[in-house]
Amino acid sequence: MIDHISHRADSRPFLLAHISDLHLAEPGKVHFRQLMNKRFLGYTRWKLIRHLRQDSSLADILINDFHNVGPDHTVITGDITHLGLPCEFRSSAQWLHKLGTGKEISLVPGNHDSYVFEPWQKSFIYWMEYLLPGNTSSGHAALHSLNDIFPSVEIIGHIALIGLSTSVPCSLRLATGTLGYSQLKKLEAILKQLQGQRLFRVIFLHHPPVHGVVKKRKCLTDADRFLEIIKKYGCDLILHGHAHREVKTSVKTPQGTAPVFGAPSVTSLDPRPDKRAAWYIHEISEDKDGFFSINTRKRVFMPEKREFQELSQEKKM
Ligand SMILES: [Fe+2]
Repeated sequence: MIDHISHRADSRPFLLAHISDLHLAEPGKVHFRQLMNKRFLGYTRWKLIRHLRQDSSLADILINDFHNVGPDHTVITGDITHLGLPCEFRSSAQWLHKLGTGKEISLVPGNHDSYVFEPWQKSFIYWMEYLLPGNTSSGHAALHSLNDIFPSVEIIGHIALIGLSTSVPCSLRLATGTLGYSQLKKLEAILKQLQGQRLFRVIFLHHPPVHGVVKKRKCLTDADRFLEIIKKYGCDLILHGHAHREVKTSVKTPQGTAPVFGAPSVTSLDPRPDKRAAWYIHEISEDKDGFFSINTRKRVFMPEKREFQELSQEKKM
């Protein structure tokens, strides 16, 4: 059930980076025949409006800032591509390689990455090292769908990273996500297995699992079942994207509550404070008695300087 375990030699706080919703579009490489489906709407919206709201060049600026900070591990919560096109998967894989290796980065897909059904060999195969926990090399050939991979579980020191896929093609005008019965059953078994262990359990997924964050047409369809599982077995931190704004909320756990952070799009051009391009660093510390605390730092894009800078701090004990 647990796919990969690695040990950490030191007791420094663990720096967990969170990046989301890059929407790395390649409008110049689209063939007309690739637009004979839902993509036509997405492509038209990009040409008319969306290109004014996202700037892929911020993804390259992010790389410098990212390497200066030097997180211990990074999660990316989906919508790396915009129309889920093979050319977007290929170019986003090149960007990912500049950011880091599969051992340093874990990725879950978003609804835009499954905009329409695309064969595995033309899509997610390019991200394999980032989808598989710890970049485990065995069994690649047997994997042909996201269902074969998720939930993903990786344990780094005392941090347990549980990735969930909400990425399923949905009908025109919908941007919903679904975990599905099988993935939820596996999640329940994983959390049951991790109970009582000295681990800080981080769950990361694309769609917000709490109600009221996004409209119904963009929601996680089985959020209620997910929340029931968390209420029963607990977790320590939930990270998501999709809302394209900063979200800070919480979910009920057997121990009380766990914080939920939604990251804005890291390539956003929106100047509003909660929608500005930003990424997070969650500094997770453990005391000698095994109690964990989080200190969250936010690095926000400054358009006038064309760089990311630290803007605020959020402490959670
Ligand atoms: Fe999304």
